Amino acid sequence: MARLIVATPGFPRDRPRRLRASRALRDLVAEARLDPSMLMLPVFVREGITRPEDAPGLEGHKRYPPESRELVEFIQEAMDLGVKSFLLFGIPSVKDETGSRAYARDGPVQAALRHIRRELGWEPVVATDLCICGYTSHGHCGIPRQGRRGAYIDNDETLKVYRRIAVSQAEAGADIIAPSGMMDGQVAAIREALDGEGFSDVAIMAYSAKYASSFYGPFRSVMDSAPRFGDRRSYQMDPRRRLEALREVYNDLAEGADIVMVKPALAYLDMISLVKESFPYAPLAAYNVSGEYALVKLAAREGIAEGAALMMEVLTAIRRAGADIIITYHAVEAARLLREGFNPF
Ligand code: PBG
Repeated sequence: MARLIVATPGFPRDRPRRLRASRALRDLVAEARLDPSMLMLPVFVREGITRPEDAPGLEGHKRYPPESRELVEFIQEAMDLGVKSFLLFGIPSVKDETGSRAYARDGPVQAALRHIRRELGWEPVVATDLCICGYTSHGHCGIPRQGRRGAYIDNDETLKVYRRIAVSQAEAGADIIAPSGMMDGQVAAIREALDGEGFSDVAIMAYSAKYASSFYGPFRSVMDSAPRFGDRRSYQMDPRRRLEALREVYNDLAEGADIVMVKPALAYLDMISLVKESFPYAPLAAYNVSGEYALVKLAAREGIAEGAALMMEVLTAIRRAGADIIITYHAVEAARLLREGFNPF
């Protein structure tokens, strides 16, 4: 990477301020730029409701009935602003031990996806989150068992469920499957299941370096997916670890991931940078998570910062760190501002 060149004695004094003198000069030499097409918008669909309802804690977001006109309009509106990709999350009306609504043919994600394909065809890129925490009675991302240390999450039993979910999401029309449960070997298992059913063209976006974070709070309220016992620290990464992320990303790429991810984004910019520099050929997504979104909204509401400028600075920082794709609840708002030529820099 770039090396610092130290000026030799007698070298004319440098004047970096020359290129900061006007907006146009600053734009000319800006290194990190945002485009709506790199933003992926999370979308929530909920079984058993007839009207969209507010998503608690995620200002401006809603939970949509899977087969609703409002869902299609929301996606169409985002596409009109240049946002072309979506990440679907489903909330079932019944939860059980294995999260069976996650792989039901008529589950919330499957129903929404078929509806989107019927109404909008294949123009939107639709990724489906693959996990069971929102579908299970216990709120964990895997199947619990009793072991010698008490209850634990059984990795390989969980992979069996993930395989079924992957195939049912592909059948419903997913472009990209995004496993977020942090089970070991999840990418290999899903790749094998997809290929075995003739879905070799379905891509995998792996939540590779996903940390056990306190920034997921609003999302868990929206999904009703908080663990009912214990926590997720036995499967999500420890925030104190750095190089372990390279092992996770390496494994996912070796298992066949097409896109890898760092999550959260804003508090983990160093990890985005490290992963991009270590695996420059792998498309890298960063998930600007619900708690990070909520903090920006809170700061704006409290008058701590101008909301639009703060949002653009956050998204630009994630881009500058090395993300190729930013998954963000700000996507529609940011796309609209970019389209209007808004520039806080
Ligand atoms: C778990 C999952 C989480 C998020 C998406 N999928 C985290 C968790 O509950 O542990 C968080 C996304 C966000 O906070 O925006 N399958």
